Amino acid sequence: MTSPTPPLRPVVVLGSINTDLVVRAPHFPRPGETLHGSDFAVIGGGKGANQATAAARLGAPVQFIGAVGADDFGTRRIEEMAAAGVDVAAIARVADSPTGVAFITVNAHGENTIIVAAGANWRVTEQDISGTMLAMAAGGVLVAQLELPLETVAAGLARARAAGLTTLLNAAPSTAAARNLLHHVDILVANEVEAGDLAEWASTVTKENAVDVSARLRARGPHTVIVTLGAAGAIVATGTRTILIPAPRVPVVDTTGAGDCFTGAFAAAIVGGAEIDAAARRAVSAASYSTTIFGATTGMPTTEQLDAFLRASGTG
Ligand code: ATP
Ligand code: RIB
Repeated sequence: MTSPTPPLRPVVVLGSINTDLVVRAPHFPRPGETLHGSDFAVIGGGKGANQATAAARLGAPVQFIGAVGADDFGTRRIEEMAAAGVDVAAIARVADSPTGVAFITVNAHGENTIIVAAGANWRVTEQDISGTMLAMAAGGVLVAQLELPLETVAAGLARARAAGLTTLLNAAPSTAAARNLLHHVDILVANEVEAGDLAEWASTVTKENAVDVSARLRARGPHTVIVTLGAAGAIVATGTRTILIPAPRVPVVDTTGAGDCFTGAFAAAIVGGAEIDAAARRAVSAASYSTTIFGATTGMPTTEQLDAFLRASGTG
């Protein structure tokens, strides 16, 4: 008789939920310039919701802690997250703050600029973090980003670690004060700008110096530092080795949410039993896939889509 497969440990996302108001433009406007854009779209976003959606679509059990307003945007975002398979029971509805919004411009190269009005995200407090939920998620991964109040993120990381979860911080958007959180973090995921700011690195972070930047960051707490490098892939640094995982060449449409896809896919692979390097390889592929689709949550692949993409790119 074969023994039953143990249930997957959950990914608990402590994070933001936004409605993304997206337009395409030929280039980013200069101060005072008015441009003709196109393709206006209203799409689910927010770094937390994007990461939760990515992890859930790739098969992980995902629980979400966060908040939306008591408005139509909030209702839509919760419905969409639930449809993606995210447990939305711990998402609060805040009566006197709107659901977060992000104004996003995507240029002809698929690059973006983003302005976020945090709204209800800024109302998430330590009291919203259920000790019972964390205790039941022991052995899983807590995923946080920096679109909630820093003290809430700090409390979430500290309490999750004490409850036996691995803590993963995606240090986005860049916030220098997040240096004070690093001692609560097991795995840090940061892009070049975020890694440079956290490490107080004087020059631009590149593929060449990411090893030294990662070493400086590891000295502040995380046992694993992953620096994502856009089209160049990602560097993974642990105590024993540093590897570069190149990204596949893809026809980029919109990079919005690529870092979120990386983080969610990485967490899903870890709770699925993958080792760090294998999880990061899958995350690079998932994130590159996501850049081929317009929008943030819209680009997060399912397991079937990612496996087909890996086969087509010759890496599956
Ligand atoms: P964003 O803020 O746009 O969501 P980010 O700055 O947090 O993203 P990046 O380092 O730009 O994160 O990208 C994360 C991952 O997405 C990369 O490791 C890579 O796998 C994929 N990616 C991003 N840009 C490209 C690209 N131009 N071509 C292929 N893959 C890409
Ligand atoms: O990382 C992309 C996300 O950043 C967008 O979905 C937007 O909502 C902002 O939070």
